[in-house]
Amino acid sequence: MSVPKLALSEITEAALGKSRAEAVVVGTVQGANGLELAPGAEAVDAALGGTLVEVLRTLGATGKAEEVVKVPTLGTLPAGVVLAVGLGAPEPTAEQVRRAAGASGRALAGTARALTTLSVIDLQAAVEGTVLGAYSFTEYKSEPGDAPVSAVDVGAPTEGTTRQHRATLKAATAIAEAVVIARDLINTPPNDLFPASFADRARSLAEAEGLEFEVLDERALKRKGYGGILGVGGGSSRPPRLVRIAYKGARPRKKVALVGKGITFDTGGISLKPAANMDHMTSDMSGAAAVLASALLAAKLKYPLEVTAYLPLAENMPSGTSYRPGDVLTMYGGKTVEVLNTDAEGRLVLADAIVRAAEDDPDYLIETSTLTGAQVVALGNRTAGIMGSDDFRDRVAGIAQATGEGGWPMPLPEELRADLDSKLADIANVTGARWGGMLAAGIFLREFVADDLPWAHIDIAGPSFNTGSPWGYTGKGGTGVPVRTIAAVLADIADNG
Ligand code: BES
Ligand code: MN
Ligand code: ZN
Repeated sequence: MSVPKLALSEITEAALGKSRAEAVVVGTVQGANGLELAPGAEAVDAALGGTLVEVLRTLGATGKAEEVVKVPTLGTLPAGVVLAVGLGAPEPTAEQVRRAAGASGRALAGTARALTTLSVIDLQAAVEGTVLGAYSFTEYKSEPGDAPVSAVDVGAPTEGTTRQHRATLKAATAIAEAVVIARDLINTPPNDLFPASFADRARSLAEAEGLEFEVLDERALKRKGYGGILGVGGGSSRPPRLVRIAYKGARPRKKVALVGKGITFDTGGISLKPAANMDHMTSDMSGAAAVLASALLAAKLKYPLEVTAYLPLAENMPSGTSYRPGDVLTMYGGKTVEVLNTDAEGRLVLADAIVRAAEDDPDYLIETSTLTGAQVVALGNRTAGIMGSDDFRDRVAGIAQATGEGGWPMPLPEELRADLDSKLADIANVTGARWGGMLAAGIFLREFVADDLPWAHIDIAGPSFNTGSPWGYTGKGGTGVPVRTIAAVLADIADNG
């Protein structure tokens, strides 16, 4: 879906008097004595004769997070309504602003043009939140309903120069657009998004951004020995692919490899999943969508890095040509894996891609995947599990928290490795143990990571797909997590090595 047109705007009474916006967004907070206005609302309040707090309190508004109250302006402003959105606690953090902006973006559906003052508090967070909150995916609806807001004037912060504000607006818009690219891919149903069609979309996006693009089809995969991807993809009439896209910034400071799980639908294969909620497995390519979007973003924002993204794409189906529990696969690079459960397919396609990614000799590896139900059991729907080499894992987890996407460092306990021992092959794809499934998957992947390569594995089984109600800037369906985390890690590597 497209994103609204954004433009910087002054927030003064004179500017409000000339604005063509139909609605003006102001922030509210929960002060010690009840609702108060957030910074940025002053000129709006003045235009309304200083009555805004009283009016909002009379309507029962409290300023709590994501509360949305509409107040008619009755001719005092060209805009017909003020949309007051709660930030929660005073002195709001970036994530409070982002979520409030998200709630406003959702509430603006049906409004063509709006002006937001939340950007006076935090320009980047307000832009990201507004754009992502306004997102809706209606490609498959005959009657799409209220259209998302199509233009947003963004109030300039009082600090900083116009030049800085322009740069922030540009970066924030690009970041939000990258999240939208990931969401669109995730939300596209698996009958239309399968390995070959995903690869085609990746090609058009990569070429439009001037990136190198390469795809291995099933014959090339066979010739080169990608046993994991071929094994998992073998049951589908729609054969697997391995996509590689590469961005080379001018005078790159570091090389970063990205790998994302791209199972376009996961039935479980012969180890078939139960029917209930199997449709959620349309999101099992969220990792691939995220690394594709992140590589495109790196190019758009011209990070001084080399970024290579690998998307192992396969559909995990049961059929007469499926791989079976009991099969031994020879992976790319030669390690053998005994398949004990065909539903632990993500780690098999990832292992091939991780080994391939190391051939580019990267300085860092970031891999992300909807890998285990155990991640959701351990951390819930909004906190990714982050594993890998200790220092880089902690760095990525800290950044995940700072972006507001959420993520928590998790260990790879040495004693779990023995549970993956196989009688027949080098390693088995699952353990017989019931516990620690997220960590066992991480330990499996570690076997395929080159020695001494700093790496992070981000398990996004829960956070990638919202099956509940919309909240903050997250609607139903694909969330785009962890695009903003990867973007921030890339920016951090560009700055600090
Ligand atoms: N794609 C699933 C993991 C998943 C579960 C993602 C729930 C999102 C929501 C993955 O391929 C899978 O099936 N994992 C198995 C592993 C098990 C067989 C060791 C699981 O978690 O049950
Ligand atoms: Mn599975
Ligand atoms: Zn899966």
